Amino acid sequence: MNILEVIARKRDGLEHSPEEIGFLLDGYLAGEIPDYQIAAWLMAVVTRGMTRSETLALTRAMVASGEVMDLSAIPGFKVDKHSTGGVGDKVTLIAGPLAAACGVPVPKLSGRGLAHTGGTLDKLESVPGLRVELSPAEFVAQVREIGLAVAAQSPRMVPADKALYALRDVTATVPSVPLIASSVMSKKLAAGADGIVLDVKAGRGAFMPDVLSAVELAREMVEIGEGAGRRTVALVTAMDNPLGRSVGNALEVKEALEVLAGGGDRDLREVSVQVAVEMCSLAGIDRDPAATIADGSARQRFEQMIAAQGGRLADGLPEAPVRLPLASPRSGWVEAIDALEVGYASLELGAGRMRKEDPIDHSAGIVIEAQVGDRVEAGRPLAVLHTSSEALAGPVARRLLSAWRIVDHEVARPPHILRRVEGHGPGSAVH
Ligand code: URA
Repeated sequence: MNILEVIARKRDGLEHSPEEIGFLLDGYLAGEIPDYQIAAWLMAVVTRGMTRSETLALTRAMVASGEVMDLSAIPGFKVDKHSTGGVGDKVTLIAGPLAAACGVPVPKLSGRGLAHTGGTLDKLESVPGLRVELSPAEFVAQVREIGLAVAAQSPRMVPADKALYALRDVTATVPSVPLIASSVMSKKLAAGADGIVLDVKAGRGAFMPDVLSAVELAREMVEIGEGAGRRTVALVTAMDNPLGRSVGNALEVKEALEVLAGGGDRDLREVSVQVAVEMCSLAGIDRDPAATIADGSARQRFEQMIAAQGGRLADGLPEAPVRLPLASPRSGWVEAIDALEVGYASLELGAGRMRKEDPIDHSAGIVIEAQVGDRVEAGRPLAVLHTSSEALAGPVARRLLSAWRIVDHEVARPPHILRRVEGHGPGSAVH
């Protein structure tokens, strides 16, 4: 096979055979095909797209590039959950314990923050002592014992995604349905669960800017999951405004604990419960996850998981030394909060990484005081910035002000769960 011919086929909008896709990935991982040729091919995929069978073949080749988890020692129908990434998205920290408390075994491999979006591993690591690097044996034993583990993916799993993702990140080739779908689903398939619930975010703060493209991505991922023999369902949820009232690692863990204790933000609770409902339904468990908030069992499950991974909640979560309120320039109702701006602001306060090697300030972030739909008076706080120094907070505050759109009329909070996408194998239905 000839690499120039393979790139040219995608440039001209032709369909690859699974052999061609295998040739590209194997050659790239073996160092025989250089970055620039794969970059040219990725750009051709972005502009030309891929058929579903190409995307499935790409996903399968990516899974085959590394190790896969063997979860057979865990009894029951195991369900994983994945979000395509958002701002203030701490749903895993709530839905995981909810589903586990209902009896669903939840083996969850998570990622770190990406661009302006936060990562579950970074959030969990804000708990003093908590380890996310579990060996496969530790991971399986923990799910057997307490029904829930959230850990980092081994670097030996899906190395093709790691290599391709790094290249996509620097060649403007991230936003492509087949590339995102194969990237996400290769990791989910390698992680070994029997069922997968996808939370596909749509809007300003997400990788998919609108509902239609999010539904397209959701449908693609559901079909890949079902095509690979895993029960898969997706919810498309709103990410125009940040989710919940906090953005930043320790702040989000605190908020997750509040929701598990029966408080917290309405949208955050709704989406977390609904994700857990889908997880129970895939596992064939007829229980109401909301009841596990009321009886305290979900919070208890989360605390058990934290303790099992070495976390010491009793030592307290890290708290930022500087808290700077962001005063509202006018009175009115909050119509929108730009999630992308809030994500970048949180990053600049130290909650995320500008470069791969940057350390994270686990205490940094933003607490939203005036949510969409709230009435706010001039001079009252829209948010409070949590960070390590006033010098850092000042410029971020000025920029962050533009994230709030305040209007003179009352505003109803928009619906949060936008679509549900379900597969039934070949010829699947979408609702
Ligand atoms: N998340 C992933 O894991 N991969 C992508 O390509 C985009 C978001």
